[in-house]
Amino acid sequence: MSLKNTRDSYGTIAKYLHWGTALLFLVAYASVYYRGWFTEAKTPENWTALQVHLSVGVTIGVLVVLRIISRLSQPVPDPEPGTPLEHRAAKLGHLALYAVLVIMPLTGYLGTGVATEFFFLFDIPAFKDTTLFQSLIAPHLSFEAFEKPMDLVHKKILGEWLLWILILGHAAAALYHHFIKGDRTLRRMTRG
Ligand code: HEM
Ligand code: HEM
Repeated sequence: MSLKNTRDSYGTIAKYLHWGTALLFLVAYASVYYRGWFTEAKTPENWTALQVHLSVGVTIGVLVVLRIISRLSQPVPDPEPGTPLEHRAAKLGHLALYAVLVIMPLTGYLGTGVATEFFFLFDIPAFKDTTLFQSLIAPHLSFEAFEKPMDLVHKKILGEWLLWILILGHAAAALYHHFIKGDRTLRRMTRG
């Protein structure tokens, strides 16, 4: 198995980055919903669930930078046979997924009023406490006013709606290729 992409399969680096990110997405959602649904405010479990969410979210933010570098530095496999419309839809879908992969961690971090205790190893300051916020934004806008649009995008527009539609649509397309069209689209992101 090649480290880099070949003409007919994704390479090991792209596969690990793809499935690693997918798994972390699952943990990011599970931790934040667990916090909201199953824990009481101001309990240790509530705090731990939030910190898992923040730590995993920051990790996704770092991985997506590596992923974009990896994506731009090598060609992707040739598309499987399909209509021009299908190819365009796949490209647009992937672009939208990359966009949410950047926007979610960014809006998540910009909206932080508490530090991220990164997997309880070290602290990453809350955006509210950074020199960037204090010197550039605080003179014009309170943190509460700044946080509102970040939360709207992070929790509602993307977190509650668009992201689900994109991910479910993406996974459904992969399964359609595998089970109905019977082509190699899913296999080249798995066994190669
Ligand atoms: C791709 C990564 C991320 C995903 C998919 C994600 C997803 C979500 C979702 C869906 C919610 C709303 C939960 C609800 O409705 O109760 C949420 C809330 C939140 N997220 Fe993220 N997030 C990500 C990254 C981050 C990052 C990097 C940070 C900050 C470092 C962050 C901080 C927060 C905070 C503070 C909340 C509010 C928690 C609460 O009210 O219980 N998120 N996130
Ligand atoms: C069960 C879940 C998932 C399945 C079955 C799946 C499957 C696939 C497959 C088969 C491809 C290759 C498509 C092609 O060659 O045209 C792919 C690419 C991609 N997936 Fe997923 N995926 C899943 C979850 C996710 C998640 C959660 C994300 C991010 C939020 C994601 C982001 C992407 C991106 C950005 C690409 C394009 C890769 C590139 O060409 O650079 N996937 N996925």
